[in-house]
Amino acid sequence: MKRKWWHDKVAYQIYPKSFLDTNGDGIGDLRGIISKLDYLKELGIDIIWLSPIYKSPFVDQGYDISDYYKIAEEFGTMEEFDELLAEAKKRDMYIVMDLVVNHCSSEHEYFKAALADPDGPYADYFYFVKGIDGKEPSNYRSYFGGKAWEPVPGSDKYYLHMFAKEQPDWNWENKEVRDKIYKMINWWLDKGLGGFRIDAIINIKKDTSFPSYEPDGDDGLVSCVKMVEETDGVGEFLEEMKHETFEKYDAFTVGEVFNMKEDELREFVGDDGHFSSMFDFSALELTYGEHGWYDSKPVDFKRWREVLFASQKEMEGIGFKANIIENHDEPRGASRYLPEYAQNEMGKKMLATTSILLRGIPFIYQGQEIGMTNCHRNDISEYDDISTIDQYQEALRAGLSEEEALKCCYENSRDNARTPMQWSDGKNGGFTDGTPWLAMNPNYMEINVAAQEHKADSVLAYYRKLIALRKAKEYKDTFTYGIFKPKYENVDDIFAFERVNEESGQKLLILANFGTEEHTITLEQRIAKVLLTNEGRQEAINAEAALNGTITLDSCETVVLELEK
Ligand code: GLC
Ligand code: CA
Repeated sequence: MKRKWWHDKVAYQIYPKSFLDTNGDGIGDLRGIISKLDYLKELGIDIIWLSPIYKSPFVDQGYDISDYYKIAEEFGTMEEFDELLAEAKKRDMYIVMDLVVNHCSSEHEYFKAALADPDGPYADYFYFVKGIDGKEPSNYRSYFGGKAWEPVPGSDKYYLHMFAKEQPDWNWENKEVRDKIYKMINWWLDKGLGGFRIDAIINIKKDTSFPSYEPDGDDGLVSCVKMVEETDGVGEFLEEMKHETFEKYDAFTVGEVFNMKEDELREFVGDDGHFSSMFDFSALELTYGEHGWYDSKPVDFKRWREVLFASQKEMEGIGFKANIIENHDEPRGASRYLPEYAQNEMGKKMLATTSILLRGIPFIYQGQEIGMTNCHRNDISEYDDISTIDQYQEALRAGLSEEEALKCCYENSRDNARTPMQWSDGKNGGFTDGTPWLAMNPNYMEINVAAQEHKADSVLAYYRKLIALRKAKEYKDTFTYGIFKPKYENVDDIFAFERVNEESGQKLLILANFGTEEHTITLEQRIAKVLLTNEGRQEAINAEAALNGTITLDSCETVVLELEK
């Protein structure tokens, strides 16, 4: 495999609206981000991915862009953005932006021009398609619920939106559109960006005959993802985009890739793949319900371990996935992957260890490093997210009570991760002097940066140690390029793997006990060094290993060991 500058980096996702507000309007901003660069540097972060900060009506929180060349006023100015780039650079950090090019906002000037003249040239920038017998061209349901086709006023055409109706899909078949997108990407890269996280990208290739399919719900509609799954050829667009843009800058790209076809892994993220990396969504896909959040499934430890291990092994010799436990679209990892008895500081450190030391590029989502959790709401009106409102209605339609529907939101809502960052136990968790745009998670009184910053055994302190270990001169090469070897798979409750450096022979063993009972593991080799534990039991572990060749792990205990060669 070719070595690349991003292979040994650690990334952090900022959701700007909820990070830090510096002017009291209740909305996080670029100044807030600039002021926390040292905090992130100290954590060990190299790459910062910003969720969209472009001009937007915020129907889908900035994933509906009305001007790709402007910074949303809510967040600040282009000068402040340039300052952020410069300040990051000073600290050897890279800024990565969100690239949302499957769709734009219905407020984008080209879409407005298209609506004004549904037979004119701009209509072909989008999918403006004639209806059939006065009805939609096909029976697609959008990702956010309801029909994916919207009538074009004063015309017999409909336009396609795979997400909200305020997010019309760009017509990627139109070369002019593609060229404009590439030009825009290069404009940002010229500023000195490190690269892009690439949103919803698999959707850009459509079957432009837009066939209807067998309905998959009582509404007579079928998810628009069906059409994407049935269509080939996205790779040609992705290769063209790469050649026209990223490749010229040696930029880092990480794809939000769902529904990749089997055996396409190498094409997507191999040495000459479409992207540098793509997120590993295999674990979160385990919870997906057949119809929606209302039939989602809890995480089963054994299945979880199995799919993560399979995903790790699949990538060997191909490339690097980006490892996450949460993001702005998912519930908090600590609430989702930890059983109830483990939803405490020990458990959070354990989950951190098993995620950050995997093979791949670790992505930490804001607040994860202090152990932020899901947020209980008492009424659906307290939610903001467009998809949460839809899923709530969907649950009611399926016959769930209001209370049950609310519980689905509590477990799955995208707002769980979008509540503002908890900086202190002061007013609004130190996030804003004004009224936060989305109510705080009340647990900011206990879980916050200030309380953890100088506490030696806090979750934050542990994340710092963990990242420092991953990047330590003596171990970096093994944590980055070492192969991944599952261990003790026959022991229930134990999540264990080795990272093995085939050149130097260095062997690192990571053990974590996700069970309620203690477990004794028989070591296959002697320990050279205990590198990290979440319980501070280095000496006891050393003593037991030396005496018996075993390690007894408490419930929720995790250790990182260097084995003798
Ligand atoms: C991606 C984003 C999500 C957004 C959607 C539409 O999945 O992560 O937040 O709603 O694309 O842009
Ligand atoms: Ca603000």
